[in-house]
Amino acid sequence: MSAPDYSQIRQQFPILQLNENGQTLVYLDSGATSQKPQSVIDAVQNYYSAENANVHRGVYGLSERATEKYEGARDKVKQFLNAQASEEIVFVRGTTEAVNLVAQSWGRDNLKPGDEIIISEMEHHSNIVPWQMLRDQIGIKLSVLPINDQGEISLETFKEMVSEQTKLVSIVHMSNALGTINPVKQMTEIAHNAGAIVMVDGAQATSHMQVDVQEIGCDFYATSGHKMYGPTGIGVLYGRQELLQAMPPYQGGGDMIYSVTFEKTEYNVLPYKFEAGTPHISGAIGLAAAIDFLESIGLDNIAEREAELLQYATEKLSGIEGLQIIGQAANKGAVVGFVIEGVHPHDMATLLDQDGVAVRAGHHCAMPVMQHFKVPATIRASFGIYNNLEDIDRLVNSIEEAKMMLL
Ligand code: ALA
Repeated sequence: MSAPDYSQIRQQFPILQLNENGQTLVYLDSGATSQKPQSVIDAVQNYYSAENANVHRGVYGLSERATEKYEGARDKVKQFLNAQASEEIVFVRGTTEAVNLVAQSWGRDNLKPGDEIIISEMEHHSNIVPWQMLRDQIGIKLSVLPINDQGEISLETFKEMVSEQTKLVSIVHMSNALGTINPVKQMTEIAHNAGAIVMVDGAQATSHMQVDVQEIGCDFYATSGHKMYGPTGIGVLYGRQELLQAMPPYQGGGDMIYSVTFEKTEYNVLPYKFEAGTPHISGAIGLAAAIDFLESIGLDNIAEREAELLQYATEKLSGIEGLQIIGQAANKGAVVGFVIEGVHPHDMATLLDQDGVAVRAGHHCAMPVMQHFKVPATIRASFGIYNNLEDIDRLVNSIEEAKMMLL
């Protein structure tokens, strides 16, 4: 594949042509949600203008076509993640719902008091709280794999931690707060050797790198459409068929049943058993368009381009006096979290906004990471495929100007 024209790719995002506080928007918060290309906006609009009907229910043409589009989106996700079968792809609201589904369905059905789940210190709250809730409900043990001051886990420590008691390991693929990319394939191997299964939180990963669930070997993989140039409210849970098959439904309602009487309900086959109620049809169709967008550029090209952005941003930001980067893992995605001596992150983010530069400031739903680094919050610039070196220059100039006002 020849090198993509990145300025043409940026042009595909209508929101990036708009002004914010009188200046062209510099959007550096793709970790929170990515912007949407015209093709995704068109796919969603076209569904509502020309294809809208409920799925799996109607025998009329419109409903059959909506069903084909919805199931076509599932097939596309299957191919994108390289799952073995479309039955392994469950549409959910997002990564958060996927983790809750596994905790409540697989967890309650398979764990007993004393069993252990391992997560890491760099997890997002969505990969902490559902397991804590399960711990409090059924009395399991929740253990935390520590990180070092670069923001990395140690495979050696992990190997020592995993034991016969460990039944599940749930680990983030790419940290939203630190950018760290974890060695999920090796971790899966270690966990499997000890008899534990593995869930990977891929919310931040799938828009930045090629993800192959069979290559990783994990048992569950979760991601969110809105962070990969798709719509909000749609996400994916990949689960190995054998595991999903044995799991009870997470929610009850329409579409997840085969037959219902007041005495007994027979559940539908996979993946419908886990999709109660009318699904987010337009979301799935928009997600399929987002996958087409990502694949038209190529995930390897995206990884390469974003590595350049990361390197440039790291160099430029490191040159600012008093600025400390939080998260310096050797294997890192295009996210730079930082603090500036004497400046509160929210004050800095507010001043940057006045220059049209959108960054996130706060704990990034990863409070334990802030606790590790002993900071209340960080400023975070997170990049997407539409960003360029000028965006980083604008960020750096604005920081310098804001520092003069604040210090
Ligand atoms: N998890 C999202 C973020 O990192 C919201 O900003």
